[in-house]
Amino acid sequence: MAKQSRVLKVGLIGSGAIARDQHLPYWRELEEEGRVRVVGVCDLIKERREREAAKCASATPYASYKKMLQGESFDIIDICTQNRVHAPAAIAASEAGAHVLVEKPMAMNSRECEAMIAAAKKAGKKLMVAQHMRFEARAEKLKEVVESGALGEIYTAETKWLRRRGIPGWGQFHIKKESLGGPLIDIGVHMMDLCVWLMGSPKPVAASGKVYRKFGDRPDLFNADWGVHYPAREFDVEDYATALIRFEKGLTMQMSVSWAANVHDEIENMFILGDKGGIGLNPLGYFSADHSSLSHMTWDWLSEEDGHRREVRHFCECVEKDQPVMVKPEESLHIQKIIDAIYESSRRNKEIIIK
Ligand SMILES: NC(=O)c1ccc[n+]([C@@H]2O[C@H](COP(=O)([O-])OP(=O)(O)OC[C@H]3O[C@@H](n4cnc5c(N)ncnc54)[C@H](O)[C@@H]3O)[C@@H](O)[C@H]2O)c1
Repeated sequence: MAKQSRVLKVGLIGSGAIARDQHLPYWRELEEEGRVRVVGVCDLIKERREREAAKCASATPYASYKKMLQGESFDIIDICTQNRVHAPAAIAASEAGAHVLVEKPMAMNSRECEAMIAAAKKAGKKLMVAQHMRFEARAEKLKEVVESGALGEIYTAETKWLRRRGIPGWGQFHIKKESLGGPLIDIGVHMMDLCVWLMGSPKPVAASGKVYRKFGDRPDLFNADWGVHYPAREFDVEDYATALIRFEKGLTMQMSVSWAANVHDEIENMFILGDKGGIGLNPLGYFSADHSSLSHMTWDWLSEEDGHRREVRHFCECVEKDQPVMVKPEESLHIQKIIDAIYESSRRNKEIIIK
């Protein structure tokens, strides 16, 4: 008979938008299945911690994560605060003996990421960054195609995610000391993680990039459905970033991302190119040439299950069965090193070597 694992105790640090819409509903599902119990919900804002705690069977709302970690023993801590709090909360949770799931980007710089990895290793606990796009069925399919060898030798990747007007109008996304940066660390981190993972996680060796702020701090900004709930003078991150990243073995990746750019409509795409075939996200497909003509393969039906749901369930299962996590913290550290290098390159107007 299969061993019945015990009910895991889960705590949430940060109960704002992503926790409310894409983490807690899936922990609640697992709670209903009898696999976890959400025992603590922490947020600085009383109304948020009380509202989200009340949705769970027996969760206590906390105003301080330090007090929460002292007051209970947790198997899993899920961190959904703004980026500045990711590292200190993750380190405290590892030191308290919990496995840690933390929202993207991993932290504010690669030194913080290294400290998070060291704390998790010392505690003998898991650490995973919530790169939910890897868990979507379309990413899973593309990975399957890559692993079949159908691309031949992969040499480069390109990705673009440009919004016409789509600056997050809530939270701390627009403030550098809280979030580190704008679209590069918000949506760029998703696309870079996906491309690098699909390319087989090569080690980055250099990056050259430039970031711009053209819209976010303008009081006349038109931001359509995203709302403008921040004073424009507070906006001190970029709203556009572009970069060329070099990896070991001559691989490269080009990337540009924006929260606001004068383009026709939102563009969200990536390609991984090999000498036998290529893959793309939008339209989703495999592109090659066979029998002297071009061919294009796509898939008629793929699950539309939310990647966040699969990610939360995956993390729970990894803890239950003591299995390795899909998003390795060392891979997230490499992405953070690329981000650090792009900002430095933009500041210093030169290519930065990544060590
Ligand atoms: N994976 C995705 O697609 C995705 C989408 C949106 C946001 N995110 C990430 O999720 C994180 C949160 O984003 P959000 O949109 O939920 O922001 P948000 O501002 O709505 O929520 C953050 C919450 O954290 C709380 N908080 C801040 N400091 C805290 C502390 N010390 N202790 C406890 N709570 C604290 C805030 O009060 C707030 O309620 C960010 O890192 C963001 O990058 C990921």
